[in-house]
Amino acid sequence: MSQLPIDTTEVVSREHEKQVLRAERETERAGGAPLPDAPIVDTADLRPELLAQLAHVRQTLQDELSPVGPEEACLTCSFQAEDVLLLHLAMELRPNIPVLFLDTGYHFKETYEYRDRIAADWHLNLTNLLPRQTVPQQESEFGLLYQTEPNRCCGFRKVEPLFDAVAQYKVWLTGLRREQARSRTALKEIDDFAVKPGIIVRKLSPFADWTTRDVWQLCAHFDIPLLPLYDLGYTSIGCEPCTTLPTDPNDPRSGRWAGKKVECGIHIQATEDGNPDASH
Ligand code: ADX
Ligand code: SF4
Repeated sequence: MSQLPIDTTEVVSREHEKQVLRAERETERAGGAPLPDAPIVDTADLRPELLAQLAHVRQTLQDELSPVGPEEACLTCSFQAEDVLLLHLAMELRPNIPVLFLDTGYHFKETYEYRDRIAADWHLNLTNLLPRQTVPQQESEFGLLYQTEPNRCCGFRKVEPLFDAVAQYKVWLTGLRREQARSRTALKEIDDFAVKPGIIVRKLSPFADWTTRDVWQLCAHFDIPLLPLYDLGYTSIGCEPCTTLPTDPNDPRSGRWAGKKVECGIHIQATEDGNPDASH
């Protein structure tokens, strides 16, 4: 299969470089922990290693998307840097690829605004996946589950709607990386993943072995605007009640769930008993 062309003459734009430097100053001002792998952008051309990684990802996408139809592959998007970069690369091949966003109702207003901006600017084929209950319905029946039983809250608002949706596809693209968490060190680039008992989806995580720096450099390279919350020092961004600035500068996910848990469950396979934490 022929390799996709790579434009090695593209250079990181001055404007984006300025944006990154501005972000670093904002982080210092906000008193947030320093970024674990600071996104300092080199104005030189991309490293040969990174170009090779990029070529590999493009080839993987080409190889894995070619055999399936336009409605058979989806990309789940949190609108964090990995996901918008992956979306950018997937849209080179499939401009209309179905994009699934878990709209828990608890996201930061910045996340909603950024989602809407990218959706409009990139003409995304976006579906907002909604839980069975609205936030007021859930809170009146169960109270603040994100405080009392976060596993149950994630089960209702993330695991259940995401697995129901992904089960309709053959291929599922994610921006997961091994470096993100100890729970992800065994992540496979390509995995047959059980979203429901007996329903297996081919789950692709093409950035599995990428670093934060690789992701940020490529985002700058492609002039991809990023979720403004990074400017305030956030390094991993989910629902607002369960996301703070990182408490450990060496652990980008240390601001998630205040250390009470490390995964919401959407990356844990279903067992014969059903999906994790999704039981009503
Ligand atoms: S999480 O499980 O802790 O929330 P993380 O934020 O690291 O996950 O993102 C990892 C991957 O999970 C993303 O690349 C994306 O595929 C998926 N994901 C996470 N949050 C969402 C969301 N709100 N909507 C859609 N996909 C999501
Ligand atoms: Fe609920 Fe928090 Fe999970 Fe969001 S991350 S679904 S608010 S527990």
